[in-house]
Amino acid sequence: MNNNNALRLGVNLDHLVTVRQARRTPYPELPEAIRIAEQAGADGITMHLREDRRHIQTEDIYQSRGLITTSMNMEMAATPEMVAIALEVKPDYCCIVPERREELTTEGGLDVINNRARLIEVCGQLAEAGIKVSMFIEPDQEVIDAVCQIAAPIIELHTGTYANATGDEQSRELDRVIKAAEYAHQGGLQVNAGHGLSNDNVQAIAAIGLIKELNIGHAIIARALFVGLAEAVAEMKSAMTRTRK
Ligand code: PXP
Repeated sequence: MNNNNALRLGVNLDHLVTVRQARRTPYPELPEAIRIAEQAGADGITMHLREDRRHIQTEDIYQSRGLITTSMNMEMAATPEMVAIALEVKPDYCCIVPERREELTTEGGLDVINNRARLIEVCGQLAEAGIKVSMFIEPDQEVIDAVCQIAAPIIELHTGTYANATGDEQSRELDRVIKAAEYAHQGGLQVNAGHGLSNDNVQAIAAIGLIKELNIGHAIIARALFVGLAEAVAEMKSAMTRTRK
């Protein structure tokens, strides 16, 4: 049954590959992880090809394209190298993220305002190839206005600050995400969210009815160490849908 209010789960497999790359072994096999995640309820598979190739490798992107039966979301910086790979691979979605080599993980949203010209160029190239482009941004109205001018159809709201906060601060951060989702929706954008979400903090974000998709990686892979990947994906899917009316 087609449920328009259904919340999609994009499973990010970067950190499964982190384990493989730690020893440069053939295992854990990414193709098997894609199969298990999709069978357990993933609505899409997300991979971040970083400039330093600390986890996902270029050939993972090419190989996975033919294996993913749901939808493929390639996270990438707006560099000429990444754009060239995306134009060849043609994932269903590209999520443009900021990237600094020294960061532990993506540490904040894109500076859309100061990179407008480059982002317009990249969005145009990707859209022309039939790839839907999303921008990973802070839950901030000014940034949403800038995305609307670029004509990217989707945003992914950065939930990392919400996820790292506690108590009143977390409530304030949640409020920022809610307001940003409403503002972006009014502006005609599809609203996704992600970063730092886990079984413990996902419910409040999943309850925001305007959000269409959550991209979640680290917590699912960590949980998979104890219960297996299929169970970890299924648990997350059920935690997400529990609060969704
Ligand atoms: N969304 C984006 C744009 C990201 O860069 C990441 C991390 O690669 C995620 C979602 C997933 O974050 P986490 O691994 O903390 O769930």
